Amino acid sequence: MMVEQLARNGKGNGTKEGADLYYPSADVVERAQVKDWNALADFSSKDPMGFWAARAEELGWYQKWDSVLDDSGKPFYKWFVGGKTNIVHNAIDRHLHTHRKNKLAFIWQGEDGAERSMSYFSLNREVSKFANVLKALGVRKGDRVTIYMGRVMELPIAMLACAKIGAIHSVVYGGFSVEALHSRIEDSQSRVLITCDGAFLNGKVVELKGIVDEALKRTAAVETVVVYRRTGKPVHMEEGRDYWWHELMALPIASPKCETEKMDAEDPLFLLYTSGTTGTPKALVHTHGGYSVGIYATFKYVFDITDEDRYWCAADPGWITGHSYIVYAPLMTGTTSVIYEGAPTYPYPDRWWRIVEKYGVTILYTAPTAIRGLMRFGEAWPNRCDLSSLRLLGSVGEPINPEAWRWYYKNIGKDRCPIMDTWWQTETGMFMITPTPVVPLKPGSGTRPFFTLRAEVLDDHGRTAAPNEEGFLVLTTPWPAMARTVYKDPDRYVSTYWTKYPGKYFTGDSARVDEDGYFWIIGRVDDVIKVSGYRLGTAEVESALVSHPAVAEAAAIGLPHEIKGNAIHTYVILRSGFEPTEKLAEELRQHVGVELGPIAKPEKIEFVAKLPKTRSGKIMRRVLRARALGMPEGDISTIED
Ligand code: WTA
Repeated sequence: MMVEQLARNGKGNGTKEGADLYYPSADVVERAQVKDWNALADFSSKDPMGFWAARAEELGWYQKWDSVLDDSGKPFYKWFVGGKTNIVHNAIDRHLHTHRKNKLAFIWQGEDGAERSMSYFSLNREVSKFANVLKALGVRKGDRVTIYMGRVMELPIAMLACAKIGAIHSVVYGGFSVEALHSRIEDSQSRVLITCDGAFLNGKVVELKGIVDEALKRTAAVETVVVYRRTGKPVHMEEGRDYWWHELMALPIASPKCETEKMDAEDPLFLLYTSGTTGTPKALVHTHGGYSVGIYATFKYVFDITDEDRYWCAADPGWITGHSYIVYAPLMTGTTSVIYEGAPTYPYPDRWWRIVEKYGVTILYTAPTAIRGLMRFGEAWPNRCDLSSLRLLGSVGEPINPEAWRWYYKNIGKDRCPIMDTWWQTETGMFMITPTPVVPLKPGSGTRPFFTLRAEVLDDHGRTAAPNEEGFLVLTTPWPAMARTVYKDPDRYVSTYWTKYPGKYFTGDSARVDEDGYFWIIGRVDDVIKVSGYRLGTAEVESALVSHPAVAEAAAIGLPHEIKGNAIHTYVILRSGFEPTEKLAEELRQHVGVELGPIAKPEKIEFVAKLPKTRSGKIMRRVLRARALGMPEGDISTIED
């Protein structure tokens, strides 16, 4: 029986029927903006441009677009061509003339217990002031600005200030370290860098400014550094280069009046670096127009947002999840969001549940790794808190195993909150495969593509895989929030995403589609490793290792890990004169932590004399993985010896 039919039969009973199908309760269906998924899916697939035009009409434009989609230069699609807008116009400016003016935009909690909140009115003031500071520092439309901060409210403020004046922000996740930061600054050629003195994490201080100082020794690009004081620990301030945020904001240059720059729909809004197959991380480019429309529509329909919600996305603003669904989409819909600075288990494993209870969070959006991590401590922790305010849950970043799904559903959602398992990528900008609240759920499946979108699973020859057969996941229809290109490298955009199956977007993931048309994501098929939901590249880990004087060659692979999803395992060939000791292995792990970031520290370092390579010298990671997992090595006819 088709799921649609089952849904109708079991409609509104809130219970699961059969082994593994979960229906929305009558309450969920009652409040849902999309009550009939099938009807909207039918309508939107017949008239996709009509669907997107209608969503765009709900937003504010300085000038209306001439055409919704221009595909004449595909795969370089353009959306809302001729339209003029600015994402800040929709995220802030529009609300100032409505009941939302004094509504809270953000509620912030520091790991140390500090609390702040900010209304849309105050957010506008802070953003305008900082936008004027940036202008005074010489930042102009189209200039890149790197932002490297902990999870403080000034991070979204800095992003919005850039967007407001048409500058392009490039946020580098605060958990990255010296070389990761350096390479991203170098590629973007940012002249201004915004950072913090430090960040609180797990009861300790991450010394962000110290990392900045090291990274800046490796590049001459940055002329000015703005430092937001969070921890108050003493830091080095370089004369003529480094300025305190609070001092600049107290100067007359920081006027609270700033005109929002009118941008073309296709003008770039931000760069976001992400790990791919080869060498250096690449920056995906997202725009003001299409990106706004895509994230707005998906956020509204998938989380069923209304003005009463208190929404909490527990990700970091430094990744795409944070860009789209902590900062921009929640603000565009006038939502009140919670931002929490620190670790989920500090000081105790109930920290998150206390936050839900305290602020009456209605929607919690997080990653499977966090759920698995908290599950370990047992249900007593969430059970001691009042989680009755929750009405919807979300998951993102990696496949959620059914066991974690059920734990989340039962112990956090109390068997009444549907889980929105959203599959998407830095490249897609917005949710792609996702349920909406009325869709019957299967634990571990993101259900089906969002309205207007089509996805397929193909075999190596481009044939559609049979039901339940594993293959490559591709997207066959364009969508407004799609990345427009790889910054400064359009050829790489074409070769990475549009060449394997010409005309189709290659996701880098493997998946299968079941008999109900539900998609099941299996994992990456390229050299990307998802560690605790964080996206890392084998090449980055390898080059961090090779930058150590003891290392001649290195190979990194991902192997399954109970909590992290995947863990990094590495194989190292030492230079002559170095001994393979435990001590050296530990030193190398630390070295990767310092160069790339603590999240990239290898789980295991194995010293080897040789690495399996193709005759052209490429490391065969597939073979290393197969060996580590005790699986057949497959075709090794191309191996060197
Ligand atoms: C994985 C994160 C299964 C996938 C938004 C994708 C997922 C990569 C899911 C992109 C999900 C993300 N189920 N896998 N719900 N969401 N992924 O660019 O492998 O950091 O290709 O974007 O994360 O990672 P990125």
